[in-house]
Amino acid sequence: MVPSTAGVPLLVLLLTLKACSAPEVEKVTVHVDKGVTVTIQTKQNTNCKVCIKVWRRNCFDSKQFKDSTVLVEFECPTRQAIFTDFTVKIEQNIECSTKSCNGHIVQSDSSFSLLLAFNRTFTWTLNASPQTAFRIDFPKPGLRQIRPWEACEGGHSFTLQASRATGSATIGKYCREGSISSVQIQSNGRFSVEVPARQKLQNDQFNVSVGEEIQSFAKITLTFPEGTSSSELLSPNYPDSVPSSSVIEWDIQVPDKHGTSVQFLNVSQPRCLKNMAAVEYRSKERAALFRNLTDAQRNEEKGNVSVTLRNCEMDMTSSNSTLSFSLRVLTSVRTDVTMILVVVTAVLAILVIVALVACVVMKKQKKTRMKERQEAQKYQTSIYNPDLSTRVYSNWPEPGSDEEHVYVSIDETKIYSHLLDTQSTAQ
Ligand SMILES: *[C@@H]1O[C@H](CO)[C@@H](O)[C@H](O)[C@H]1NC(C)=O
Ligand SMILES: *[C@@H]1O[C@H](CO)[C@@H](O)[C@H](O)[C@H]1NC(C)=O
Ligand SMILES: *[C@@H]1O[C@H](CO)[C@@H](O)[C@H](O)[C@H]1NC(C)=O
Ligand SMILES: *[C@@H]1O[C@H](CO)[C@@H](O)[C@H](O)[C@H]1NC(C)=O
Ligand SMILES: *[C@@H]1O[C@H](CO)[C@@H](O)[C@H](O)[C@H]1NC(C)=O
Ligand SMILES: *[C@@H]1O[C@H](CO)[C@@H](O)[C@H](O)[C@H]1NC(C)=O
Repeated sequence: MVPSTAGVPLLVLLLTLKACSAPEVEKVTVHVDKGVTVTIQTKQNTNCKVCIKVWRRNCFDSKQFKDSTVLVEFECPTRQAIFTDFTVKIEQNIECSTKSCNGHIVQSDSSFSLLLAFNRTFTWTLNASPQTAFRIDFPKPGLRQIRPWEACEGGHSFTLQASRATGSATIGKYCREGSISSVQIQSNGRFSVEVPARQKLQNDQFNVSVGEEIQSFAKITLTFPEGTSSSELLSPNYPDSVPSSSVIEWDIQVPDKHGTSVQFLNVSQPRCLKNMAAVEYRSKERAALFRNLTDAQRNEEKGNVSVTLRNCEMDMTSSNSTLSFSLRVLTSVRTDVTMILVVVTAVLAILVIVALVACVVMKKQKKTRMKERQEAQKYQTSIYNPDLSTRVYSNWPEPGSDEEHVYVSIDETKIYSHLLDTQSTAQ
């Protein structure tokens, strides 16, 4: 049978109609544990929907699930869009008392393995008890800050936010492998990990504990290894402004005999109503150092240093009033001036001791020689001067002058010449 040529356009038309009328659907069973909130969101300007069927089927742009097991339908005009136009947010809470916190940031998506095909964001909301801070320790080798529009090579990017009475501030976006070893945030904050579609969340644990008392809304600790290293940090909310009247602190820790150089780059100055934005450097070595942002913002330090930034009360009516900057921290082994002095002094001391010892030894040798000479003199006297009138005796130098000569040249020759003399007389 030869197919009718008229049937082909009809078939195409029918297929097109089918594609229009029946969207693509992907069904996934989502199990949400107690204490966890899962939000499935569609991208803006998309024709995708998230649908669930209870009595009848309902579709939404965004839908939240708590403590339940549901069959979720991801519906899009094309199959392609299903895997690009949804984001899944998985949120949980960690509460801290004044002594301890009720959990850690445990990264595992084993209970959400069916959602692997979507972009996922895992978020932990952390609440410290009033007037205290919580602390997150990052596993070695720590985190590295990146610009908000940058992405991490490994695919996992971390975001840290502090919730303040006046609104939330983004402390930064980070990738794995950097010098940031821990962070403390006053009162409340959020920590999140973004994982792109089809990538498994790397199993990990970030410990959460009650922090020490801090005077800033956030304190970031950097721990550097031995040798030379550098790190770049950005001001909170970068490239937007550090919140008005806020205080933030960076604690820079280096191994012994290391120094730090802190440099403020690309500083954008705020317009202040009260006071001015200032930086305070504190270290064990000396008294606190205060600097304004117009000063040369480069500072060399010995050992550990803490850098505190205090923003002024900003003029919010001015649209271009922003405080933002990047902070470069360089650390290296420090060739200390006092160390050099110590080494030089030690070398000098050794030289002096050597000289003294040499002196004593020489004196001792001198004494021994003098004794030997006196012995020799006695001996000679007994040999040569039975009558005290020989030439030998009269040539004998005064004691103490030119002993060397006395021993080397006089001794034997004089003794033997006498013997020779007697021999020759005998002959
Ligand atoms: C999913 O992640 C990829 C890569 O990270 C990104 O390009 C895409 O825009 C994300 N999609 C959504 C809906 O956020
Ligand atoms: C987290 O805590 C566990 C014990 O609770 C400890 O073994 C581990 O070393 C800690 N990790 C970090 C990065 O501090
Ligand atoms: C810096 O601080 C850390 C942790 O408090 C400490 O182990 C280290 O010895 C300090 N370094 C110096 C040079 O004082
Ligand atoms: C400084 O800021 C400009 C624009 O705001 C940007 O292009 C440049 O990369 C920044 N430099 C550094 C070192 O961050
Ligand atoms: C910043 O400090 C320097 C001296 O350390 C001073 O000369 C300068 O006027 C100060 N700038 C402002 C804006 O006060
Ligand atoms: C900010 O805006 C004011 C006017 O509103 C202008 O005079 C000033 O030069 C601007 N400053 C910067 C840094 O752009």
